[in-house]
Amino acid sequence: MVVVAIDGPSAAGKSTVAKGVAKRIGYVYVDTGAMYRCVTLFALENNVDCRKDEEVVKLLPNIQIELCVDGRVLLNGKDVTLDIRKQEVVANVSFVAANKGVRLFLVDLQRKMADDKSIVMDGRDIGTYVFPNADVKIFQVADVKERAKRRYKENLLKGIECTLEFVEQDLQRRDYIDSHREFAPLTKADDAIEVDTSFMTIEESIEEIIRIIKNKLGDNKDE
Ligand code: DC
Repeated sequence: MVVVAIDGPSAAGKSTVAKGVAKRIGYVYVDTGAMYRCVTLFALENNVDCRKDEEVVKLLPNIQIELCVDGRVLLNGKDVTLDIRKQEVVANVSFVAANKGVRLFLVDLQRKMADDKSIVMDGRDIGTYVFPNADVKIFQVADVKERAKRRYKENLLKGIECTLEFVEQDLQRRDYIDSHREFAPLTKADDAIEVDTSFMTIEESIEEIIRIIKNKLGDNKDE
């Protein structure tokens, strides 16, 4: 089975692009960020402090996450697709993602997902830790000001109140925590290909990544 790993900082457009790439080449798209968000939502719903690692780990046996092919995310059978994007989850997810017990639990699930199908998986540690032997590794970046503008526009469309300054500071805060955690931090794998999408449209980013995949796999991987 083929694994395409797409890593990079928050709001670099990874999920939109990864989804588009997966659709075009007929692979299954796996959004690992949604899995960390589900654990965070479950902890918040159970009034557990997301900074208390041991308490969050105790919840894991009661958590079942399903990533549906239509993009819906189910937490213990309930549709939480929108809930996991809420501000309270965003504010706490980096703490949960820095929890080693949570990471080991989710990484195990993520590895099993490639057992029987080819996947495009996006996250922070896919090419470095989850699949160090991934067939193709992309590190997708974009200038922080561009990322903030994109996320700000998305928030406005979703009716989430915020300022551009807040969004930019929050992205920097999350990038810092994600790249400075002890276990499996956000970092570019030595053999990953960096794609800077600051000045690319979504379609151009998808095209560029498909070009890289074709190059790597030496195969006709589109449509
Ligand atoms: O990609 P996202 O914004 O949905 O990710 C949410 C959080 O989870 C973010 O703080 C980074 C973290 N994360 C991670 O540590 N490892 C992954 N493989 C995916 C996401």
